[in-house]
Amino acid sequence: MASISRMTRWTIVAASVAMMAAACSSGGSDNKTDSSKGGALSGRGPITLATGKDTSGNLQNLVNTWNQQHPKEQARIIELPEDADAQRQQMVQNAQTKSNAYSVLNLDVVWTAEFAANQWIAQLPKTQFDLTKFLPSATKTGEYRNNLYAAPWKTDSGLLYYRKDLLDKAGITAPPKTWAEMQQDCAKVKGVNCYAGQFEKYEGLTVNFSEAVESAGGVVVGDDGKPNVNTPQAKEGLNFLVNGFKSGMIPKEAISYKEEESRRAFEKGNLLFYRQWPYAYALSNKKGDSKVADKFAVAPLPGLSGPGAPTLGGHNLAISQFAPNKATALDFIKYLTSEQTERANLIASSEAPTLASLYDDPELQKKFPYLTTLKASLQNAKPRPQAVRYNDVTTAIQEAAYSALTGKSTTDQALADLQTKLGQLITP
Ligand code: GLC
Repeated sequence: MASISRMTRWTIVAASVAMMAAACSSGGSDNKTDSSKGGALSGRGPITLATGKDTSGNLQNLVNTWNQQHPKEQARIIELPEDADAQRQQMVQNAQTKSNAYSVLNLDVVWTAEFAANQWIAQLPKTQFDLTKFLPSATKTGEYRNNLYAAPWKTDSGLLYYRKDLLDKAGITAPPKTWAEMQQDCAKVKGVNCYAGQFEKYEGLTVNFSEAVESAGGVVVGDDGKPNVNTPQAKEGLNFLVNGFKSGMIPKEAISYKEEESRRAFEKGNLLFYRQWPYAYALSNKKGDSKVADKFAVAPLPGLSGPGAPTLGGHNLAISQFAPNKATALDFIKYLTSEQTERANLIASSEAPTLASLYDDPELQKKFPYLTTLKASLQNAKPRPQAVRYNDVTTAIQEAAYSALTGKSTTDQALADLQTKLGQLITP
C-alpha cells in the first residue's frame, strides 16, 4: 500500500509541474499533427532507433531479426552517449530543430512528460498495445495525462550486487538488510573496497541520492505533493553516502562512477558490495571479461533499519513527431515490446522486461534465479517525478548531492538549499 500512495504522490507532483510548465511554455504548439492527438501514424520505409549506448550488447541482434523480416523497412541504430543526461541533451536538440534523423526514441522513463508536453513525440494508439500484460508501474512511466506516448520496453530497479564467495568465506550466510549490517560485513572481509554506486554528477546521482534518502525513511517529495528534503530522515540518508566517502567505506574514485565504471570496478574484484541495475547481471557473469563470474549474487538494497527503497528506472519507446515513416516505427515498437523479443532479450542480456508473465515463467526463473529478487525489488521501486521540467528538478538534486559528497557543502546546507530550489520548481 505504501508504494501505491507514493505513486499517487508522484503523479500529483507530475501533474502540477506539468501544468506549471505548460503555462510557461510556448514550445511546440506549432508542431501539431494528427498523430499528436492520437491519430493515424502513417508512412512506411527505413527508420532509425536513437538510443543510449547499448550496454547490453544485444540490441543489434534484436534489430537484425527485424531487418531480416523487413527488407524494405530496415531499422538502423543511432547510438548516443552512455550518460543519461547527455542522451537527453542530444534528443532534445534534435527535436528542437525538428530534425527527422531519429524515428524511434529510446526514452528514459523520466523524460516522457517533457517530450510529450512539447509535442516532440507522437501519441501512441493505446488500444494497439495489450497494456494489461505489462507491469503497471512501467506503463505509467510511458503515459502523460492518461495518454500513451512511449511503450514500456525495459524496466529497472536498483539491486545490491554482492560477492557471495567472500561472504561465504567469512562465514556470513545472508546478504545485509541494513547499512549497519553491510558495514559489519565489510569489517570482516579484508582486501576489497566495501561499497559503491553511481556518484558522478548526472542522472545516476539523482537515483543514488533518492535511494539513500528513501531507504532512511525520508522522501524527496511528500504525500502532499510538496518537496520535503530538509528532514532528519533525508539527512540520515545523505549522510550514509557523505560519511561513506569520508570513512573510506566508499572508495574515492566512486565520485566519478556512472553505471559502467562501477560495473568494471566490481568485475575487477575491487568491490564487496555495490548498487547497480539488472543489466550488469549477465555481463558480470561472463567468464573472461569478469573476474567475478559465478562469484556474486543480488539482493534487495539495504536501508537504515531494514530493506531499502530502490528507484524505478527503465526505458520506453516513442515515435518522433518529425519522423517520416511512423507506421513502420509503430510496428517496430510492437516488435521490440512483443513477448518473443522481450524473452529473447532477457535471456541474452538480463535486462528487466516489462511484460509481467516473464517474471513468473518457471523456465526463466530456473535460468535466472535473480528474477525473483528483481520482481520483489520492482514491486518496491519508487518512481521519480514525471515532470515536464524534470531536467530542472534533477539538476537541482544532482548539484545538492554532489556538493555534499565532495565536501563543498554540509549535508544540512545542501538539503536546505535543495528544499528551497525544489520548492520553486514543484508546487502541489
Ligand atoms: C538506468 C535507468 C534510468 C536511469 C539511469 C540513470 O538507465 O533505467 O531510468 O535514469 O539508469 O543513470
